[in-house]
Amino acid sequence: MFICTNCGNEYVKWQGQCNFCKEWNTLKEFREEKTSTKTSHTGEKKELQSIEKNLQKEERFITQSSELNNVLGGGITQGSLILLSGEPGIGKSTLALQIAGWLHDKKIIYISGEETASQIFSRAERLGINGHNINILSESNIENILETIKSVEADFVVFDSISVMYSGNIPGISGSINQVKYIGEIIQSFTKNNNISSLLIGHITKDGNLAGPKSLEHLVDTILFFEGERYEDIRILRSLKNRFGDTGEVGIFKMKEKGLEDLKNPGIELLNDKNMHPAIGSSLSITLEGTRPLLIECEALTNYTKFGYPKRSTRGIQTTKLDMLIAILSKYSQVKLDSYDVYTNIARGLKIDDPGIDLSILASIISSKLGKNIIKTRVFIGEVSLTGKIKNVANLEKRIKEAEKIGIQEAIIPNENISYKGKIMLKKIDSIEDLVKIING
Ligand code: TYD
Ligand code: MG
Repeated sequence: MFICTNCGNEYVKWQGQCNFCKEWNTLKEFREEKTSTKTSHTGEKKELQSIEKNLQKEERFITQSSELNNVLGGGITQGSLILLSGEPGIGKSTLALQIAGWLHDKKIIYISGEETASQIFSRAERLGINGHNINILSESNIENILETIKSVEADFVVFDSISVMYSGNIPGISGSINQVKYIGEIIQSFTKNNNISSLLIGHITKDGNLAGPKSLEHLVDTILFFEGERYEDIRILRSLKNRFGDTGEVGIFKMKEKGLEDLKNPGIELLNDKNMHPAIGSSLSITLEGTRPLLIECEALTNYTKFGYPKRSTRGIQTTKLDMLIAILSKYSQVKLDSYDVYTNIARGLKIDDPGIDLSILASIISSKLGKNIIKTRVFIGEVSLTGKIKNVANLEKRIKEAEKIGIQEAIIPNENISYKGKIMLKKIDSIEDLVKIING
């Protein structure tokens, strides 16, 4: 079997490029040892489990952070294995130590293979964690780790991080496919056998894939992804998988001097310009992240292309989305961008997949191209279809309600029957041309 050392995708034959992560020359041969030599197939008697006896609700550790509790579907489930991934420097170790502090009535072991105990002590001091409940171990050999902690009573164990831990029992350097896979399995069975909860920290590669085999994703109960821009203070924690709650749910935090703080009601916090002055190339929208409506700001800049091929560049949305929106715009309106560079950005380093902000991205692009201001007492909510029509979005009413709550006076929305009753003015539009008319004033 061949395994991609970048993303862990498996292949029967060698090939130059990984189909999944598109990296070159990352496929390495991997031999699985034949362990089973049994010839008889009589099978082994297993025990049946009664639903009734097992129905009592799983135990949860409720932390002091309601943002974290919500992402997890109501706290940390006892006996669960959680994978926390994210780019280096985003704040994974900080969050893990804070979780330990938030669980002040639980016994915690924090194992770090990346930092010395004294580095962790000084971080704890900075975070104001008194740590009466937390024991630190600075070690990266998994056998030493288990030998050390097996006799220590614990409710919650942090492994920071799987990428630097290694086992002496199998070949390969730390972070390699078989090491990560093997250690993941060891930690999983340790967690289940002792009915503790474990937080496993993992790095992601530069293109956002989890380093290590994809099998790690099947091994864990919950995958949390921590994202944000290094030079911004907003941090979003997303659940990408959760056996104990809804996936896609988000927790929002602010990284401060003394660590992460819950941002329960972001309101206008996610905008660049909190004074909300009208601006060319900037408009507001309400996105839906998990079940939460959030006010966000889409920025765009269009500029005449001096040489050759026009540039398209995005931050916070996919470039393919921008290409599509520009194509729709030139097909269904008089706003032509064939010889214009187009840049777009979502304020505060947010990354948004929700198609409900399409209309706002387009509004900002049109505004920049036409040199027309957009007022910030207005939001643009709607998906744009390839036929140039404005489509409905999930939970439109919920989004409008949030806009009104923040004090927005007008919402530009798809032409749909909605039952929303409030003071906010609703302007329904059908097409891109309608949008251009609005921006033109
Ligand atoms: P860290 O948790 O070490 O990141 P990771 O484990 O994901 O690599 O966090 C690194 C950044 O967080 C570092 O640049 C400093 C910043 N930070 C704060 O802003 N406030 C704090 O209280 C702490 C502990 C870190
Ligand atoms: Mg770290």
